Amino acid sequence: MPELTMEKIVSLCKRRGFIFQSSDIYGGLSNTWDYGPYGVELKNNLKRAWWKANVHDRYDILGMDSAILMHPKTWEASGHVKNFFDLKNDCLSCRKRHKSEDLKDKDKCPECGGKLTESRPFNLMFKTHHGPIEDTENELYLRPETAQGMFVNFLNILDSRHPKLPFGLAQIGKSFRNEITPGNFTFRTREFEQMEIEYFVKPEDAKKAYEEWVANRFNWYLSLGIKKENLRLREHAKDELAHYALACTDIEYNFPFGWSELEGIANRTDFDLKQHAEYSGKDLRYFDAETKERFYPYIIEPSGGIDRAILAILTDAYHEEKVKDDTRVVLKLNKELSPVKVAVFPLLKNRAEIVELAKKIAQDLKKSTVATYDDTGAIGKLYRRQDEVGTLYCVTVDVQSLEDKQVTVRDRDTMQQERISIDRIKEYIINKL
Ligand code: GAP
Repeated sequence: MPELTMEKIVSLCKRRGFIFQSSDIYGGLSNTWDYGPYGVELKNNLKRAWWKANVHDRYDILGMDSAILMHPKTWEASGHVKNFFDLKNDCLSCRKRHKSEDLKDKDKCPECGGKLTESRPFNLMFKTHHGPIEDTENELYLRPETAQGMFVNFLNILDSRHPKLPFGLAQIGKSFRNEITPGNFTFRTREFEQMEIEYFVKPEDAKKAYEEWVANRFNWYLSLGIKKENLRLREHAKDELAHYALACTDIEYNFPFGWSELEGIANRTDFDLKQHAEYSGKDLRYFDAETKERFYPYIIEPSGGIDRAILAILTDAYHEEKVKDDTRVVLKLNKELSPVKVAVFPLLKNRAEIVELAKKIAQDLKKSTVATYDDTGAIGKLYRRQDEVGTLYCVTVDVQSLEDKQVTVRDRDTMQQERISIDRIKEYIINKL
């Protein structure tokens, strides 16, 4: 396959309606992206797969959906007000802001050669106001991680569900960070979605649980069909650990721009519960009914980005194949993730009986799976279009179908075609899926 570049991925995403630049008609808002019709299906399929693996398939993890806006004390307790910043240097000539760690020369602007200010901390949390009055009393942050919504509900969960250790909370939601240098398409943005688990364990079990979660999460990415050679683990050195972490391992993906983080699994110790206990004045210790002990559990946190996972999935699935004198672009998404499972076409769009039959088949398939109908091009074009969005099967209704009551089913990956009777088409597709 020819070299895979980010331009090819970005172009496919726009061309086929996976991801568009936000506010496109106004020239776009930089580094901000909207998911189009196929993008949202893919994203929902990914979220569903994560929720199933981590909530529905397990007896020890409960789901949650906490608010984006939280009491300002949350972020004092969590350490984000004090510690959640990057160092930046501003250019005095072109006013561009640079992340200090990206600069080779801390005095000279890499864009215009102008003089830079000294490194200064820049807090990454977005500020807003709660209510109509804009004063410091009402200042609030948009959450920079979903995690805190689970920590502050720890007591509510204990009181309402009485879970026994080890147990976890899981949630998916938007987070916001005023990144100094967003970029690489959806990889680093200021508004993004996270899928996070906070897994509470006895302190003496934390190391083992951490190791198990690293393996579990790595295998989950493999289960989505991502190639093993494009995934690796990277353990954080002591000096790069976040202020709350005792240990952290990243799962990295080999993007066209290099190996970069998809998800981090951290041992957050008892830092968060202790901090929230201190700042709220509430007793957030767990009571062990057997030993009659009260203690703060440790927390193991697998924290992944939805947008990064989507970008890795699209990159991994992207294939270019030579077909005769042409190049076929095909997204080899796995069955669970493909936005559309089956597309139905009429071979001739001006033959009413064929169109009617194709629409009827599509409508019937829709009751059992995600099916679509398309008659906006010649058959070759329709196949290529569906290949590019990863549709698993294409069903074509032709003149002969009116007589022999059979249709042609084409497999995305092999491009093999089979004649299947219309009576059996639904059963055939569902079995394949
Ligand atoms: N609660 C822990 C936490 O938030 P993190 O490593 O800062 O840890 C977890 O973020 C994941 O969220 C990352 O691995 C990444 O996938 C995603 N993420 C973080 N910042 C992001 C950004 N600016 N744009 C897109 N995804 C981001």
